[in-house]
Amino acid sequence: MKPETLSQPTNTNSITDFLPINGTDYVEFYVGNAKQAAHFYKTAFGFQSYAYAGLETGLKDRTSYVLKQDKITLVLTTPLIPESEINTHLAKHGDGVKVVALWVDDAEKSFIETTKRGAKAYMQPTVKKDEHGEVKLSGIHTYGETVHVFVERKNYKGLFMPGFKKWESTYNPTEIGLKYVDHMVGNVGWGEMNTWVEFYAKVMGFTQLVSFDDKDISTEYTALMSKVMSNGNGRIKFPINEPAKGRKKSQIEEYIDFYGGAGVQHIAVATDNIIDTVTQLRDRGIEFLHVPDSYYDDLSRVGKIDESIAELKKHRILVDRDDEGYLLQLFTKPVEDRPTVFFEIIQRKGAKSFGKGNFKALFEAIELEQERRGTL
Ligand code: FE2
Repeated sequence: MKPETLSQPTNTNSITDFLPINGTDYVEFYVGNAKQAAHFYKTAFGFQSYAYAGLETGLKDRTSYVLKQDKITLVLTTPLIPESEINTHLAKHGDGVKVVALWVDDAEKSFIETTKRGAKAYMQPTVKKDEHGEVKLSGIHTYGETVHVFVERKNYKGLFMPGFKKWESTYNPTEIGLKYVDHMVGNVGWGEMNTWVEFYAKVMGFTQLVSFDDKDISTEYTALMSKVMSNGNGRIKFPINEPAKGRKKSQIEEYIDFYGGAGVQHIAVATDNIIDTVTQLRDRGIEFLHVPDSYYDDLSRVGKIDESIAELKKHRILVDRDDEGYLLQLFTKPVEDRPTVFFEIIQRKGAKSFGKGNFKALFEAIELEQERRGTL
C-alpha cells in the first residue's frame, strides 16, 4: 500500500474563496420523538439543554430541541402533524441528519455564489428577527435529501436563533469532553461519488484532501471508495463514500438500503481525552463497534505513541498514523434501529487524516455486526 499523501487546500486566499465558512453551525436530525432523543443525547453523550421551539413558542407543526456541548450544536426536530413533510422524510429514512448547517458571514452571498454554480435552492435567503437581533438563513440541497443551511449570526446576540426560547431543565448530566465536529461523512450510491466530489469542488469551492480506492479499503465482504473534500480554511471536512464491489453486501450499500438513499453516515466529534470520553460513553450505555483482540497484536505501523498499547486495548480504541502525527478513534454502533447513522469519537495528535489504516480492522468489525443482523 502506498503511503497516503496529504495535500493541503489551495484556496486559502479569501479572494479566491467564494464561500468562506467559519465552521459547522449546527447539525439537525429529523427524529420520531425529539423529547426522547434529547434525553438520550443528554444522558448518553453529555449534551446540555440549550434552546427549544414548539407549541409554547408558537410553532404548530414541529418541535425542536437544541443541545450543546462546547462548539457542537445538535437540533432534534419532530413533526406534530400528519401532513408535515418531516413525516415523509422519517418514513423513508428513519431518524437521520437532515441539515448540515454552516456558519458564514454572509448567508445571501453564500446562496448566490452556490446557486449560480449549480446548487439547487432549498431555502431562499430569509431574515429572522427578535429583540436580540437577526439571523440570516439560506439553504441548498446536497446528496440525497440532505441539505446545507447557511447561517449568518453576526448581528444576533440571542441564544440560538429567533423563534427559540431558552430550554431550562432540572436534568443536566455532565459533559463528556466532546469539543467540535471534526468531519461529517456522506454515503452516496453506486457511481455517485465523483458527482458529489465535483459538487463540493465546483459549487462550494472545496478541494480534495485525500484519496484512496477500493484496493485500499476492502475486506472479504465490504469495499468502498472514499474521497475527502475540505473547504478553504480546512474547518469543514466532508469525506464522501461510495460502495465498491465486495464478495457480499458492502456496509455502505447496507446504509443506502436502510436509509433509502444517500445521507450522512457518521459525525466525527473531537475530544482531548479519548480514553476518558469513551469510558464515560460506555458507562452511559453507548455501544461501540467491537475491535478484535488481534487488532492490538501488531501495531508497529503506528510507531511511538504516548499511550500504552495495553491501555488502548483495554478501552478498544483504534490508532493510526500519517506523515504529521497520529490519531485515536472509535466508532459507535448506529444510534437508531436502522443500521444507518453513527458517531465517531476522535482525538488528533498531529495527524490530519481519517484513520485509513484502521478501515480494514473497522470493516471486519462491522461485518461481524452485519453477520449478526443477517444482512451480509
Ligand atoms: Fe470518520
